[in-house]
Amino acid sequence: MTKQKIRKLSGTLRIIGDKSISHRALILSSICIGRSEIANLLESEDVISTVNILKDLGIQIKKKNNKWIVYGNGTNSFIQPKKALDCGNSGTTARLMLGAVSTNPIYCTFVGDKSLSKRPMSRVTDHLEKIGCKVSLTNNWHLPLTIKGSEINLPLVHRISKPSAQIKSAIILAALNTYGETTIIEPKKTRDHTELLLEYLNVKYKKQKIALVGSKLVFNGPYEIKSKNIYVSGDPSSAAFLVVGALITPNSKIKLVDVLLNETRIAYLSILKKMGGKIKIKKTNTRSGEQLGTITVSTSSLKGITIPAKLSPYLIDEYPILSIAASQAKGITYMKGLDELRHKESDRIKSIVGMLKSFKIKTEIKKNDIKIYGSPSKEVTCYKTVKVYSDHRIALSASILGIISNNQIKLDDKGKSMATSYPNFNSDINKLITN
Ligand code: S3P
Repeated sequence: MTKQKIRKLSGTLRIIGDKSISHRALILSSICIGRSEIANLLESEDVISTVNILKDLGIQIKKKNNKWIVYGNGTNSFIQPKKALDCGNSGTTARLMLGAVSTNPIYCTFVGDKSLSKRPMSRVTDHLEKIGCKVSLTNNWHLPLTIKGSEINLPLVHRISKPSAQIKSAIILAALNTYGETTIIEPKKTRDHTELLLEYLNVKYKKQKIALVGSKLVFNGPYEIKSKNIYVSGDPSSAAFLVVGALITPNSKIKLVDVLLNETRIAYLSILKKMGGKIKIKKTNTRSGEQLGTITVSTSSLKGITIPAKLSPYLIDEYPILSIAASQAKGITYMKGLDELRHKESDRIKSIVGMLKSFKIKTEIKKNDIKIYGSPSKEVTCYKTVKVYSDHRIALSASILGIISNNQIKLDDKGKSMATSYPNFNSDINKLITN
């Protein structure tokens, strides 16, 4: 592997649009009535899978002057698709679109790539079957699957057993086109972009916190939602890579603007601060129902900490990059209760440990917990080609450690998987790298 001089990160950057909000902006605009303009939509492979599926379902979507225009026809307007709906690598596309089609009288086949075809879908389809649609899972609770939507849908009480915004959002999307009261009870709060976007679109629903039970959402459908233009704020999960990059690279200071500061998404910033990270967060404005702000980060001496299991729903996408911060922190970082990481784009417990081993960083797996033995170093060495398991967040995390590597790192997918969520990562990082 070729030698490389250690550089620093500096400058100001506007981060690309949030992946979760991009999916929701497209899906909700499609079931609104009228024309919506979406600005700052993330144009990554995952989001484009949602665009293509909505088009297959008869929705007109086009891009004009950097904005995406969607012509919505209401909550019961999808037409029978002529081909299988291809979700690619995107779990959010699959799970949310299953909810969206479940109450339309059409028959759909959902397919996905090799990784998505190993991820559980029954956590969503179990709820949708109770509402009234017919699902046939051909591959042991996984894709490919077929779903026959029903027009006579039951308004029910749904108790979600796993903390998952995808399950919650699928049921909400079904509830929007169901006559009567649908109640959703989630034990732990999960990302609430669907709810916030619905509030922005003037959809009325009830929200209540119940002690020891969690939170309750009550929708009284069907809804007729009038379209509005939507702005997608900057993705905090993509920002996380640059934040950790600046923390671990000597002499760095960066500022990220227009980043989404939704509390369910930025727990990683509190964790990094607890590890000693010099991070300043400043709220600026709200757009399309979400809080935006600026994050300023400079190089810091980090220390290892224990991350309790109860925080896992709020850090779920950030464990890979937190593991990079942990590798450069003094002492042990103990990440607990990572069971859900087994069901992401790869088995992320396995892939995080594999990635760190390529840099000879000591790790231990204890059931669903990971221990990382950190050691702050001005530079690291990558000893072999990093196996990223076609997982975008592993490829991006390894690339961040690659900034302080004294040799040029190699990814086994050559960085191809980054296009899933952060297609312009290389150009962004090159804007910040200074010699
Ligand atoms: C997402 C929810 C999370 C997250 C995923 C995006 C969403 O999954 O890991 O990247 O947009 O709703 P779960 O809700 O299944 O944990």
